[in-house]
Amino acid sequence: MQETFDVAVVGGGPAGMMAAVTAAEKGAAVILIEQNDRLGRKLRITGKGRCNVTNDCPPDEMLRYVTRNRKFLFSALFRFPPEKTMAYFEALGVPLKTERGRRVFPVSDKAADIAEAMVRDVRGSGVRVLHARVKTILRDGGTVSGVLTESGEHIAARAVIVATGGLSYPATGSRGDGYRMARDCGVAVTPLSPSLVPICTAEDVSEMMGLSLRNVTLTVRDADGKEVYSELGEMMFTHFGVTGPLALSASAHMQENPVPSYRLFIDMKPALDEKTLDERLCRDLKENATRDFCNSLGGLLPASMIPYVVRESGIDPRLKCAGIRREDRQRLCRLLKAIPLTPTGFRPIDEASVPAGGIEVTALEPKALAGRTVPGLFFAGEVIDLDAKTGGYNLQIAFATGRAAGEGAAAFAAEEQKKGEKKMNGNIRIAIDGPSGSGKSSLAKKIARELGLVYVDTGAMYRAVGLYVRRHDVSPEDTAGVEALLPDITVGLEMGENGQIVLLSGEDVTSLIRTEEISMYASLVSKIPAVRAFLTSQQQAMAAAGRIVMDGRDIGTVVIPDAEVKIFLKTSPEERARRRYEELLGRGEDAVYEDVLRDIMKRDENDASRDVAPLRQAEDAVVIDNSGYEPEDTLREALEIIAKKRELF
Ligand code: DC
Repeated sequence: MQETFDVAVVGGGPAGMMAAVTAAEKGAAVILIEQNDRLGRKLRITGKGRCNVTNDCPPDEMLRYVTRNRKFLFSALFRFPPEKTMAYFEALGVPLKTERGRRVFPVSDKAADIAEAMVRDVRGSGVRVLHARVKTILRDGGTVSGVLTESGEHIAARAVIVATGGLSYPATGSRGDGYRMARDCGVAVTPLSPSLVPICTAEDVSEMMGLSLRNVTLTVRDADGKEVYSELGEMMFTHFGVTGPLALSASAHMQENPVPSYRLFIDMKPALDEKTLDERLCRDLKENATRDFCNSLGGLLPASMIPYVVRESGIDPRLKCAGIRREDRQRLCRLLKAIPLTPTGFRPIDEASVPAGGIEVTALEPKALAGRTVPGLFFAGEVIDLDAKTGGYNLQIAFATGRAAGEGAAAFAAEEQKKGEKKMNGNIRIAIDGPSGSGKSSLAKKIARELGLVYVDTGAMYRAVGLYVRRHDVSPEDTAGVEALLPDITVGLEMGENGQIVLLSGEDVTSLIRTEEISMYASLVSKIPAVRAFLTSQQQAMAAAGRIVMDGRDIGTVVIPDAEVKIFLKTSPEERARRRYEELLGRGEDAVYEDVLRDIMKRDENDASRDVAPLRQAEDAVVIDNSGYEPEDTLREALEIIAKKRELF
């Protein structure tokens, strides 16, 4: 049997890894699914390769630096404040230091140390890691049941945490995966915020139009040189300036002062510090000593950017590499770490190419970050519509939300498992009888799903016999004729992807038996004692296996007279006729209410007046009169009846 995980985490960034280890620590069986071939790819180069893991301040103070949906973060942040993030990394053997502005870094200044420590923790916690791209979140009756990967692999899980990252980190080709998964499950994603807009620049960058930069850091500084935004990700040049995820996110941080007072800087090599980059340049220049200087930059820059960068550097492009002086090289190096751009204004919002903001916080429950409408679905990290200033706050948000979602998902999964175990305890046979149109089969299906039982629709079996009789041009009232056909009939019920499939001599007749004509055939053939005996013995064999919910007319009286639970559904003929009439109209069929009512009453009469096994309430059946009920009310009442009965055995 396929393994069922308690928690599947989608996305192996800081929030996803934190969520995975937290859930594992709480005893959950966890799978972490990451589409890149490495966990924590962004984490390894963030903060200019140094990784500003958190900000050493109390949570209430940190909230001041949260710029979007501050209140929502309250619970998660107070339970896992910066102090705990620091303790976490120190415990993993990564010493930390606090710098200006209380920014916390690893003492080694190596972001990779942070990433590696988390990866070690993931492995050490027994979390299974799978490198695959998740296509959709699977649900069963509204509750999360796992995920489906792009390659078609089903991963069964009781809870799923979406931690796919945000706007500023579109890993190759996968932008917005988390938003799409959320939307598919009916969880709202905020529309593009009006503050997310492309930025015009004073510099003419049109020669680089269409060029997309990946894994660069874009930094915004205010007039005093103070950093107001710095993120790693993707951006794009246009004829007027810059756009793409980083530029759009940056624009949200350029709202307090006039746009031209800010300055933008692109770090083309965020993973290399200036010294390492200089060594690399030095080597490239040496290797290309006799070539033109501008032709030696292909390894460092996209081709369409070289002329612009060379011009900005002020170095004569015709110089041979050997002729480049040390100061020139160092200037070029500084430039590659911070190509300056002067914003002049914003472009209209409709030019923005990234149509997403983040998971709407009102759609989430703030303690466990659970989707309010989708049981079992949780979110963590940048995918949520949260944002903070730079200074380690955003990573702190990732850790705190990862922690909260991990705890929430583990608790949810444990609860689900308990329910499942209860469901597995003891044999139970539930008989549901009632007239046609009383909602027996939809109730029985829901009960089956809720309690993990097999559902058997006995009416469908009578219908299949009716269809067979019709196909052989035998009158359904010709008792001898119908009896003669019985030895050739095999009726089977199987579970298909979309519910129960009815097989007549191996042929799938699920939809063919639902016509008005076959309804009448079924009703008439079901009066014939031989037909009843034929189907009753099959139904009894099915019921003998136990753990079953069966619906029909004589289940509680004839088929399983010793059923543990018997429910008799009653609904007025008028209401059943109305439901049926609306159903027919909904299907685009012509229908007259009076005709529908007449048909129903006629079938009631057939079912109740026949000599053998007429429709009748078993003495020990509990009646639910669901006239005027919503379907959920019927289910609730039925589950209460079942729960009470179960206490007795
Ligand atoms: O539940 P239904 O409408 O699909 O059933 C079709 C016919 O079969 C119905 O007219 C009554 C008959 N039937 C029966 O006699 N005994 C059962 N256990 C189930 C259905």
